[in-house]
This record gives sequence, structure tokens and C-alpha cells, in this order.
Amino acid sequence: MTDKKIIAVVGATGAQGGGLVRAIQSDPEGPFRARAITRDAHSEKAQALARLGAEIVAADVDDPHSLERAFAGAYGAYCVTFYWAHFSPEKETAEAGAMAQAAKHAGLRHVIWSTLEDTRRWVPLSDNRMPTLMGKYKVPHFDGKGQSDHLFGGLGVPTTILLTSFYWDNFIYFGMGPRKGPDGKLAITFPMGDKKLPGIAAEDIGRCAYGIFRKDGDLIGKTVGIAGEHPTGVQMAAAFSRALGREVRYNDVPPEVYRGFGFPGADDLGNMFQFKRDFEAVFCGARSLEFSRAMNPALQTFDAWLDANKASIPVE
Ligand SMILES: NC(=O)c1ccc[n+]([C@@H]2O[C@H](COP(=O)([O-])OP(=O)(O)OC[C@H]3O[C@@H](n4cnc5c(N)ncnc54)[C@H](OP(=O)(O)O)[C@@H]3O)[C@@H](O)[C@H]2O)c1
Repeated sequence: MTDKKIIAVVGATGAQGGGLVRAIQSDPEGPFRARAITRDAHSEKAQALARLGAEIVAADVDDPHSLERAFAGAYGAYCVTFYWAHFSPEKETAEAGAMAQAAKHAGLRHVIWSTLEDTRRWVPLSDNRMPTLMGKYKVPHFDGKGQSDHLFGGLGVPTTILLTSFYWDNFIYFGMGPRKGPDGKLAITFPMGDKKLPGIAAEDIGRCAYGIFRKDGDLIGKTVGIAGEHPTGVQMAAAFSRALGREVRYNDVPPEVYRGFGFPGADDLGNMFQFKRDFEAVFCGARSLEFSRAMNPALQTFDAWLDANKASIPVE
């Protein structure tokens, strides 16, 4: 155990980090051991990771000294921020900066920074196709991450920039599952027109990250993107119909209608889907299925994910 290289995993009790801890610990012959970073080492989720053999270390991304302690002695780190915990792109950037500083301080040899596009590269604030939000963002939960990409390389931290995709788990946990419309028919609703929506099983993000760490630094200095599949709304609805044995339709709404749905972050997500729709080639092109499968041979398709998870999907 002692000769293993340590990967410090931020968000280890969550979706992305949890997948990585489980991927590392399920490969006992592999070169790594996971150090699970959590704010509460005694939580049931943290203890479940300890039972897999992960080291548990308490730290908070908002406490730079705790991060330095958590990264000390490690070979690498998986760095992720938690937009939906605070809805602040500025805070995400401060957290990314603190993680980059801690990585430099610890002399880490490989960091994976989990990020998304700064959409303002394609949709400047002057572009009125979608509203500017919070005064200076188009898609706040994307832009805050993308504007932080340079912080790692800027400090000379050996980094792979990882573009993630829409979690299919949102159909379970984010209220995006099939709902009955006024006509009584089930539908999934996205403002994507006939364009493709790259998606992934959240667990596969960590497994892909494990594959990236296993490439011995070959992907340092690179930006890579991952997805399990690039289905359209119609294709996802057809997959739901097959999996649930009930007709599920695709309800294509205009982005402005989606932005007006009223739940927290609806405007942000409306802009996000519009960005993915209007820049389909850019967005899909940055998320190669071939690369994702090469990093993670167990990568799930949407059908496979649905079959494994359909019992957990709330259908209203
Ligand atoms: N939903 C999607 O489709 C999607 C797609 C791509 C990217 N993303 C991005 O993914 C990010 C979230 O990652 P995730 O889904 O893996 O998170 P998650 O499942 O919500 O888990 C977050 C974990 O991080 C820990 N955490 C929260 N605040 C922390 C803090 N201040 N310091 C240290 N740890 C903290 C919590 O663990 P403890 O309570 O144990 O500390 C929690 O278990 C978001 O920024 C989101 O924008 C989401």
C-alpha cells in the first residue's frame, strides 16, 4: 500500500470525485491510492469510501490551508468546484485559484481540473441572442469554470483540463425526468431543437479521469473532453420509451421559455442549452466518444445507463 502514488480527490463524496475514488480503489493492482477529501470525515459517505481503502482527509475548498494539508505528499489531484452549492462564478474562480495554489505548494505532478467552456468566447456579452446574467456572464456555471482554466497552468502546475458533460443522473436528481404534460403524455423537456446533447453517466467521469491519470502524464498540458454519447432529444425520448415501456416524447421548447421556468438557475440552464444547441459542432467536437472510451472501456451508452437506473428515475 505504501508504494502507491496518492491521488487527492476533491468532492470525493460527490458524483465526479466519488467515481474517481471508486475507480482507483477498484483497481488494487494499479499504481494509485485515493485520498478522499471531504468536509466531514465521519459522514456515512466518507466512511463508505474508507471501507474501499481510501484515505479520508478533511478539507474545505474555501480554506486554502486545509487544501495545502490535503494535497501534501500526493502525486496528483482531481479538482472540481461546486457551483450549485453557492451559485457564484466568482467563488468558483477563487476556489480554483486556491486549489491551483495548493497544488503548486505540494509540488503535485499531475492535476485534473474539471471544467466547462467559458461560453463568452463564442457568445460575447454584446450578443443578444441570450441575456447576460449577473452582469458579466452568459452561462455563469460554465463561464466561472472556463475563466479559471489558466490559473493552474499559470502557476506551472502540470494540468489536464477536463471538459465534462451533462450528467444523465440529472434525470434522477435534478428534476429533469419525464413529466406529464397538459395532454397527460410523458415528455422530457429541453430547448435543444434537433441538436445533440452530449451526456454521460456521472460515475463515468471519474472512471475517465482515472484513465487520464493512468496515461503517465501524457495528457498534461492538454484539454480533453468526455461524453458517453451525443443523443438528440428525440433519441433520448425514444430510449426512455423503450426503457420505461411507456411513450415518452421530446418537448422542444424555445430557450426563452426554458429560462422562464422559474426554478433556481433556470436562466443559466436555458442559456447553457442554447449554447449547446447553437454551437453543436464546437460542443460535440470537444467531447470525443472515442477518447472517452479509450480512457474508460466501461463507458456507458445512454441505453445502458437507463437500463441500470430506470427504477430510480422519478416519473411524474
Ligand atoms: N449536473 C451536471 O450535469 C453537471 C455536468 C457537468 C459539470 N457539473 C459540475 O459539477 C460540479 C459539482 O460536482 P459534483 O456533481 O461531483 O458534485 P456533488 O455530487 O454535488 O458533490 C459535491 C461534494 O463535494 C463536497 N463539497 C461541497 N462543498 C465543498 C467545499 N466547500 N469544500 C470541500 N468539499 C465540498 C461535498 O462533500 P462533503 O459534504 O463530504 O464535504 C459533496 O459531496 C458543479 O460545479 C457543476 O457545475 C455538473
